[in-house]
Amino acid sequence: MNGRTRNVRLSSGYVMPLIGFGTYKIQGRETICDVVDESLKVGFRSIDTAVVYHNEEDIGYALTLLLPKYNLERSDIFITTKLSPRDHGNPERIEESVQRSLKALNTTYIDLYLIHWPAASRIPETSTDNSSLRAKTWRTLVDLKKQGFIRSVGVSNYTVRHLEELLHDRKGIAPAVNQVECHPHFRQEELIAYCNEKGVHVQAYSSLGTSSNTSLLTDPTVTKIASQLDVTPAQLLLKWALEQGIGVIPKAVQKEHIRNNMQLDFMIDEENMNALSSLPQSWKILQIKLHNFV
Ligand SMILES: NC(=O)c1ccc[n+]([C@@H]2O[C@H](COP(=O)([O-])OP(=O)(O)OC[C@H]3O[C@@H](n4cnc5c(N)ncnc54)[C@H](OP(=O)(O)O)[C@@H]3O)[C@@H](O)[C@H]2O)c1
Repeated sequence: MNGRTRNVRLSSGYVMPLIGFGTYKIQGRETICDVVDESLKVGFRSIDTAVVYHNEEDIGYALTLLLPKYNLERSDIFITTKLSPRDHGNPERIEESVQRSLKALNTTYIDLYLIHWPAASRIPETSTDNSSLRAKTWRTLVDLKKQGFIRSVGVSNYTVRHLEELLHDRKGIAPAVNQVECHPHFRQEELIAYCNEKGVHVQAYSSLGTSSNTSLLTDPTVTKIASQLDVTPAQLLLKWALEQGIGVIPKAVQKEHIRNNMQLDFMIDEENMNALSSLPQSWKILQIKLHNFV
């Protein structure tokens, strides 16, 4: 890994860009077309969506419309989407959901399909049923991968315990990716070490700390190092992850942000990495709950 590394080879054998475009809360065909246009223009080749974001169809429309404008083909783009927690554990519903995503995204395959959440909707998070539902979901997705609808299967918001359980009952395939919240205020060091050991690529969401209790973008350590390196706080935070081999999927609607988030060809030295990795941790209620999920 160095300052210019752009891709990661996943355990599935497929190559994924380390920088992807996040789309949570971006909705409406016109807005999606605008942001997809700008993101392709500045070099994004990976896009992250989910059934629960309700924007797959508009993303599929935008990609179909805009790929030719940039001389790109479907195979030049890496598309990630995720299973809704309401479809956990039911092979028929999972297959239908994958087929709906394929249709909405106007594609014959999904590059990376994630189990969005370790617990199913409408089942208490502490219910032991979640464990068997996760196993059934995993087996169904592995079958869909064998059928060619999905190229890489992964998980999201899994803790070490959920991964241990899955690796024990994995039907020959380990998750290619674990997409989790990760930034200097929530570093997830134990989880990252575990994923690295098991060959599970960690992809960070909320890299800018926008969902943490405190604002990372205005943290004095972050702003001081960013100004020393002549980059923005957002660029510094994204690079902090990339320097550790962690992928990022920043979401942005503003064109200046979209451009900014692709300009990451700089290095952070060890002293500044250590300073960022020594910031106080700020756990949210959600994260505490997640660690108590059965
Ligand atoms: N698997 C999961 O459970 C899960 C959970 C959350 C998110 N995600 C995925 O991860 C993606 C990213 O996470 P996120 O949306 O929570 O947060 P994020 O990417 O950390 O932050 C997005 C916010 O930061 C702003 N921003 C973006 N680039 C900026 C820049 N260069 N300078 C200053 N501000 C900037 C955006 O503003 P503008 O939009 O105004 O430009 C937006 O308000 C999501 O979109 C989604 O695809 C997955």
